[in-house]
Formats: sequence, C-alpha cells, structure tokens
Amino acid sequence: MNLLRIGVLASGRGSNLQAIIDAIEQKALDAQIAVVISNKEQAVALERARRHGLTDVFLDPQSVKEEADPRQAYDQLLLQVLKTQQVDLVILAGYMRIVTPLLIQAYPGRIMNIHPSLLPAFPGLRVQQAALEWGVKVSGCTVHIVTEGVDEGPIILQAAVPVLDDDSPETLAERILEQEHKIYPEAIQLFAHNRLRMEGRQVVILPENL
Ligand code: GRF
Repeated sequence: MNLLRIGVLASGRGSNLQAIIDAIEQKALDAQIAVVISNKEQAVALERARRHGLTDVFLDPQSVKEEADPRQAYDQLLLQVLKTQQVDLVILAGYMRIVTPLLIQAYPGRIMNIHPSLLPAFPGLRVQQAALEWGVKVSGCTVHIVTEGVDEGPIILQAAVPVLDDDSPETLAERILEQEHKIYPEAIQLFAHNRLRMEGRQVVILPENL
C-alpha cells in the first residue's frame, strides 16, 4: 500500500505535529511525514522533526521580500518543496501565515488546518480570550479544509470542551489542545482511508471499508 505523504507546515512549538508523529509511530495513522516546513528558523516543530529523523526545511520569508507579491512568491517556494517531496496532503499545524490561492489551487481540498474554537465561532487569533470574554460555556477545536476564506472551510471534525468559570485563556487552551491532539490525527486517518466526501460545504464521513 502506498502510504499517504503528508507535508506539515508549522511556525511554533509543534505539539500537533508531535501528536501526528506519535499517531504514526503507534500505527494509529496510516501515513508518512514527507517533510516539515517552517517559516521560523527556531521553530520547536523543526527540532521535533529532526529528533524523529524527518526531513525539515526552513523557508525564509525574507528571501522573497523584494518580490512584487511576496506572499505568493513564498508559496511558490513552498510548493516547490511540497512537489519535490511528493506531498499528497498539506497539514497546517500552528502555521502562522495565511496561505495564498496559489497553494490552495495546487492542493484543492487537500490542505487541512486545526483551529482552537468551534468554528464558525471565534475565527482568527486570540480565540480563547475571545471565547472567555463572550462568556461561552462550551468551546473546542475544529479540523477543516483550507479554502480562501480564513477559518471558513468545510469542517471535518470537531471536539467540544467545557469552559469553566475560573478558566484563563491558558487553562482553556490547554484543555482544547488535548482534544486537538486527538482529532487531528483522526481527521488525517479518515483522509488517508478515503473516507471523506465533500457534499457542498458538508464533509460526509463514509463508513469503514466501503
Ligand atoms: C494550536 O492551538 C492550533 O489550534 C492553532 O495553533 C496552535 C498550534 O499549536 N492553529 P502547536 O504548535 O501545534 O503546539
């Protein structure tokens, strides 16, 4: 069987990357990580990749800053790496850049992101703070397909957690992160087994062995 080849884009500590690595090592996820790419040279995610013997690439945004369209030029660089590594599915895992249509059109329906809220509530940044300020009683995380609207793509999986009266953004983030580490590998596994079917903006999860 040809294993699904994943390209992970990460800017920070890479705990979701780690959850994916662990799921693969524990044989709960039938995929291989072809490459881990970061826009931050010091990203802990790159270190984690190296520790597990994975190919890691730092792509410096400064290298394209003189281009007419730096964001597109950057994604062109990304695309070259993804194609060279024969990546089938792109995983955004704490990737702090907005991906351009160039990348999205090269991987239609094949870029996933994880977001620490129950979308469409609280898109964007500082979402735990926003959830607490709003006073919601339940929050969670969402794995979705990346489309051109930020945090707007079709939802694959969600997990909910309670919001407690004495939560800080940090304690809430921690509770949500635990669920992220479960549902991200699960969503990738569904993709790897061809169990996701798009119907409009609805993602239908097909039963096993169909
Ligand atoms: C996670 O909370 C994820 O939902 C958001 O960025 C954070 C990344 O964390 N998109 P990590 O780098 O995977 O630890």
